[in-house]
Amino acid sequence: MRQIRRVLVTGGAGFIGANFIRLLRRERPGWQVVCLDALTYAGNLGNLEGLEGEAEFRFVKGDISDVELVGRLAGEGVDAIVNFAAESHVDRSILGCGEFIRTNVGGTQVLLDAARGGKAGLFVQISTDEVYGSLGPEGAFTEASPLAPNSPYSASKAAADLLVRAYHHTYGLPAVITRCSNNYGPYQFPEKIIPLFVTNLLAGKKTPVYGDGLNVRDWIHVEDHCRAVLAVVEKGQAGAVYDIGADQERTNLELTRLLLELLGRDESMVEYVPDRPGHDRRYAINASKIQRELGWRPRVSFAEGLAATVRWYQEHEAWWRAIKTGEYLRYYQRQYGKTL
Ligand code: NAD
Ligand code: TYD
Repeated sequence: MRQIRRVLVTGGAGFIGANFIRLLRRERPGWQVVCLDALTYAGNLGNLEGLEGEAEFRFVKGDISDVELVGRLAGEGVDAIVNFAAESHVDRSILGCGEFIRTNVGGTQVLLDAARGGKAGLFVQISTDEVYGSLGPEGAFTEASPLAPNSPYSASKAAADLLVRAYHHTYGLPAVITRCSNNYGPYQFPEKIIPLFVTNLLAGKKTPVYGDGLNVRDWIHVEDHCRAVLAVVEKGQAGAVYDIGADQERTNLELTRLLLELLGRDESMVEYVPDRPGHDRRYAINASKIQRELGWRPRVSFAEGLAATVRWYQEHEAWWRAIKTGEYLRYYQRQYGKTL
């Protein structure tokens, strides 16, 4: 078990990073957490509300591509760097992928160099199952599956994974890669299917299902993903890849029907829209390696997790309304007295 006193979490104002920081504050209160986030459209300080005054937590607004800033933060003596920062939405990457290359590849390279220079104990790259491409009806991805990314987003994540691998091989950088399936839970930006559909239904709008709705995703509650990352930070083997998933495959149509039922709406709210170009048909993860080697297990059942997630969006209308209107962008100004 690694002894950790200080951890640098990048992208901590986004969906998974914020949930990870909240988990650390609850379960590892002695750890100092520095959050570096550029506050792009997906970054929201509202996701970290309540942590501002805590002595063990520091927020730094900045870009992971900023060599000087990242070098300074890594040089403060961090025991682990956990890189969640990324452009994360497939549809946006199809519209234009410059930012995806700049942040997901270039930013990761800057962080890796800083980790080498600052002698960080461990570098954890938060990657995705999407680097493996698309599956047919049978089987699941494992750590041995070939990289075969199909979208500009997944290609940029795969490129970053290869850099992490090369830094471990060439320089001996203690680095680990995690590849998780689709996450759901609180604080997810409402461009991703679950929060988009829930907030649309709450606002009386329809749910835009791509194509025939039969694409399959393998769902995991964000807290289970964050617990897996924590296990990797404390016990993960340098140079290893860990796939993370909870064996909860659903077609998009099955998922949509569950959401309709939870919100008391019928199928007249489903709108079939043109398919996403290059849309991956099926993802599924075999997570037996992390279960066997690190003793991690998912704890949240899909039925309970989805119902709790729907309730969370019902109870946090101000949070998602602020995103839909753009008001959340002013949170930084209110909280820190500065304009972005
Ligand atoms: P998100 O889009 O909600 O958050 C990304 C965060 O990164 C935001 O706070 C944003 O401001 C920040 N960021 C973007 N560019 C930056 C830059 N140049 N410098 C500093 N900060 C920057 O994403 P998410 O869903 O929380 O995903 C986090 C990570 O997990 C990503 O690396 C993603 O590839 C990976 N992942 C996501 C899922 C999923 O289902 N959401 C599944 C597997 C892996
Ligand atoms: P998304 O949440 O964008 O995650 P990813 O593409 O990274 O898996 O999409 C999940 C699935 O939902 C994917 O098969 C595309 C589909 N989808 C829709 O049908 N309608 C939508 O409006 C969105 C955003 C996604």
